[in-house]
This record gives sequence, structure tokens and C-alpha cells, in this order.
Amino acid sequence: MARIFSGVQPTGNLHLGNYLGAVRNWVKLQQEYECLFCVVDMHAITMWQDPHELTQSTREVAAAMMAAGIDAKKHIIFNQSQVPGHAELAWIFNCVARLGWLNRMTQFKDKAGKNSENASVGLYAYPNLMAADILLYKATHVPVGEDQKQHLELARDIAAKFNNDFGVEGFFPQPEPLILGTATRVMSLKDGMKKMSKSDPSELSRINMTDDADTIAKKIRKAKTDTDPLPQTPAGLEGRAEAKNLLGIYAALSDTSLEDACAKFAGEGFGTFKQHLADLAVAKLGPIQSEMRRLVADPASVDQVLRSGAERARALAEPIIAEVKEIVGFLKP
Ligand code: TYM
Repeated sequence: MARIFSGVQPTGNLHLGNYLGAVRNWVKLQQEYECLFCVVDMHAITMWQDPHELTQSTREVAAAMMAAGIDAKKHIIFNQSQVPGHAELAWIFNCVARLGWLNRMTQFKDKAGKNSENASVGLYAYPNLMAADILLYKATHVPVGEDQKQHLELARDIAAKFNNDFGVEGFFPQPEPLILGTATRVMSLKDGMKKMSKSDPSELSRINMTDDADTIAKKIRKAKTDTDPLPQTPAGLEGRAEAKNLLGIYAALSDTSLEDACAKFAGEGFGTFKQHLADLAVAKLGPIQSEMRRLVADPASVDQVLRSGAERARALAEPIIAEVKEIVGFLKP
């Protein structure tokens, strides 16, 4: 059966890029697939996290998934560190993946910056843990934003090398990335060439899922644009990264195509368009935000969802990790 695995790091708030690029697509996919959605707290600590904030963020991200419409009864929402198989399989994959493969990962280069000697070993080995997340459940499909494509390719290489090294053709599937929708790469509101990200120091660069209506409107008003009117077709957005990003967000939030969004605002200035975009964003995000607030106000029940999800995830993972250990030749307990 086709099985989905995907994850979000609990490093601060979820932003509009996480929502449009990932979580919103998950909501649609849960009709067709068996799904596991994971708050990847072990990935989060590859960069320093305040322990108290990590706990809070873990609950917030889980609440955001539920508020967005993921059914935690039918599917599994859990936090990674509650299932030991992630770390166990990641270690085995550390021994399967090659240094040369990891050296090519652009996200490590972006995150480690100039001082890579000072980055944690975990940050470097991060893609191996991500491959373990997916393959621990033999997941077949992985819905993510565009920025995770390279990591998915690595997961496929690791699966193939494991199968080949141990002579177990077909043991691990080749997980397929699902990069869906019109907002696969939402850009910063302050720089159309940079991806919207939790680590951007400027709060004005992103819309957080916890921002109130005034803050959303203010951030959209202050978003960088150019001085030309909006074009009639997407072709007219070439070389206009900020305009393209804002229209892309509009199209995604209103469930239309970029063509339709362009046609709707052709010839308008940014003042009018931004007002429409702010109204739309507030209307679409508002209900999710109030449900998130309601859920987070009762941390014990969020914890219970995560605990029960983890228990179900462990039950799926245990026979697979047991088989992996046998394949590798580890003596049984
Ligand atoms: P993370 O926490 O950075 O992001 C979570 C999801 O949001 C997507 N995303 C975006 N999509 C569009 N525009 C953006 N600006 C944007 N920013 C983020 C990401 O592509 C992702 O789908 N390594 C992963 C988490 C992870 C994972 C996994 C994902 C760990 N294990 C296994 C899939 C399968 C990450 O850091 O996502």
C-alpha cells in the first residue's frame, strides 16, 4: 500500500511557506494514502534549541497540523524522538551513505555558512536521519517543498545502496517526492530571491501561522515590490521575483492558477493587489490560527495525540527495524 511520510522541524513557528509548500498538501493527500506526519525534534537539535522552547514548538507544530485539517485519529501525528527506530536506522545509514554524497548537500552549506568547521556533526549527517525517517516505515511517497528535493534524492540513493550492498533487492522502496501545488517555493517577502525561512533574522520576511490579522496585513503592506503595474500573464512576471512570489501566494491561497491570478489583477498597482492579498490571507489563515490557539491552550491533550501517534508509529517501525538488523547481521537480543 502507498504510504506517506513527511516532517516539519519544530524550530519556532510554522510559516506560510511550510503551510503552502507542505502541510496544506498533506491535508489533501490523507484521503488517498496512509500517512505519518512527524514533528522532527531530533532534526531540530542539529542547531542549538532552547530546551523549553523546543518542547513548546513541538506542541505548536503538532497543533498546526491538526488545525490545518489532518485527522490524527485516522493518520499518525507524532514526534520523532518517541520512536527509537529513527536513531537506530540513521546510524546504519551513516555507514551506508558516502561522505562524497553528503558533501554535495546544498542545505548543509547554506546552514553551516562560512564557519562549517563549527557546525554540529548532526547537521552534516542530517540527510541520513531524514532518509531513516522515511525508510523506517518503507514510505513510498514524500510530500515536501522544493527545497527538500536534494535530500529525497539522497534517500533514494541510500535505499538503493542498502538493497544492493546486502543483496536484498526491493527491500527498501524508492520513495517518490511529491512536490505539489503552485507554492512549492514561497520566497521571502523582503527578497524574492531568498526562500521564506524560519531562520531569516527579519520577521517581516515571513508570515507566521501565529501572526494576527494586523500583523499579516502589515507584513504584506511592507512586502518588497517593484513600481510596474501587474502583468496580464505569468510571462510578464519574468525578472520580477517579488511580484511573482506575491501573485503565487495569492494563487495558492485562492486555489487558482498563476494565470488566473494574473488575469484578475492585470494592470492594477500593488496597493490594490496587496489589500486583496491581505484580506485573502487573513480569511484563509484565521480559522486555522484560532483552532491552533484552542489546541495549544490544552497541552496535555496535544501530548496525548503525540503519545498515541508514537505508539502506532513504533508498531509499524518495529518489524522493519528488526528485519534491517537481521539483514545487517546484528545478533538478536
Ligand atoms: P522544514 O521544517 O524546513 O520544512 C517543512 C516543510 O515545509 C517546506 N518548506 C517550504 N515550502 C515552500 N516554500 C518555502 N519557503 C518552504 N520552506 C519550507 C519544506 O520543503 C518541508 O516540506 N528536512 C525537513 C524535515 C524532514 C522531513 C523528513 C521531510 C525531516 N525528515 C522526512 C520529509 C520526510 C525540513 O527541514 O523541513
